Amino acid sequence: MKIKRKKILIVIGGGISAYKSLDLLRFLKKDGYEIKIVLTKSGKQFVTPLSLVSLSGGKIYENLFDKNSEAEIDHIALSRWADLILVVPATANIISKLSHGKAEDLASTILLASNKDIILVPAMNVRMWSHKATQENCKKLITYGYKFLGPTEGQMACGEFGKGKMLGPKKIYMEIKNYFYKRNIVKNKKFKALVTTGPTREYLDPVRFISNESSGKQGYEIALALKRMGVKTTLIAGPSNLQIEKGLKVIKVKTSDEMFSAVKKSLPVDVAVFTAAVSDFKPSTFQKNKIKKDKSKERIELDGTIDILNYIGKTNQNRPKLVIGFSAETEKLLHNSKIKLKNKNADWIIANDISKNDIGFNKDYNAVTIIRSDGKVSQIKKNKKSFIASIISGEIIKKLLINDKSLN
Ligand SMILES: Cc1cc2nc3c(=O)[nH]c(=O)nc-3n(C[C@H](O)[C@H](O)[C@H](O)COP(=O)(O)O)c2cc1C
Repeated sequence: MKIKRKKILIVIGGGISAYKSLDLLRFLKKDGYEIKIVLTKSGKQFVTPLSLVSLSGGKIYENLFDKNSEAEIDHIALSRWADLILVVPATANIISKLSHGKAEDLASTILLASNKDIILVPAMNVRMWSHKATQENCKKLITYGYKFLGPTEGQMACGEFGKGKMLGPKKIYMEIKNYFYKRNIVKNKKFKALVTTGPTREYLDPVRFISNESSGKQGYEIALALKRMGVKTTLIAGPSNLQIEKGLKVIKVKTSDEMFSAVKKSLPVDVAVFTAAVSDFKPSTFQKNKIKKDKSKERIELDGTIDILNYIGKTNQNRPKLVIGFSAETEKLLHNSKIKLKNKNADWIIANDISKNDIGFNKDYNAVTIIRSDGKVSQIKKNKKSFIASIISGEIIKKLLINDKSLN
């Protein structure tokens, strides 16, 4: 069987530690990784393209507007080629550019255009690292889902002592091996997930419906994070304006009945995450033709809709190992969510407070509390929904791996 070699795109920035990337390159090549290198203009002051060519055995990419290399492989193709992008060293300047969305040279354009995991390995003087601006930039990048390796504390090339020192090449190499090892474990397990998201529409007639403010962002981010972590994921989405990333399987639905039927069809899965704001009510009757204005004073009779979480939590047929519900509450958040957890036989309830203006429904930020059936409660403080999604997905995978072990 042919083993697929992992592809790493290494971006080398303009720091004194750039020379360490040569040893890292040697370790990775020896271990069979496929490497392509992007060298920034400042990076070239610290390591020569010639030494990189000799070690990598390939071309070094330097310019955004290089007629020959752009024709051969452009910045988008380079970022799509990689399984992982590594920035070594990640200078204060590269970190700042990325956190501000700048794309002014080949390296920064690749980083901004990438849809892959990016690991930043910072290296800089202690003052540069501890500067508020750098710290704010790093915080921002973490909320965007970027990963950092280091820096560590130690004696610097400039003679000062403190935090800002780049990790050693051996340590970086071990971390990369570990990253791929973990990703492979999850992939090889072939876990499956379904995530519901968005609102539902409950139609009165062909043009009028009952719905709610849900944007579907949180569920979408969870589906994306699970997929990126190697879980085969289906997103069942009610009507929304979400720009869905290519490659994510999406089933679009409108009504709660359609969502319920899509959920049942998507079983069996290992984990089901119900983030959708399914309407609790639907009109008792559906008028085939548009209701006339003169009938507008008529009362609308409502029926309850199917409670999908409750159904899946209690089903004996293909019940997922992990059933997770979202609970949007405006009062008594924990109390109400705990009741929901029990009544619906869910394994976890993820509670979010929708009484606040800056988080939750239709916002980019959220703050949630995970309440587990074993009594464990953990909080994820206010952050971007993408960040919250990556933490929740990490917790889901941890739980699936533990369950899997106990079954073997
Ligand atoms: C001798 C020397 C050493 C430098 N070392 C570092 C460093 O370790 N980290 C850093 O962030 N910047 C360092 N700089 C500053 C960067 O080279 C400068 O900010 C540059 O614009 C970064 O380019 P890049 O965005 O291509 O990395 C150093 C500059 C000089 C002249």
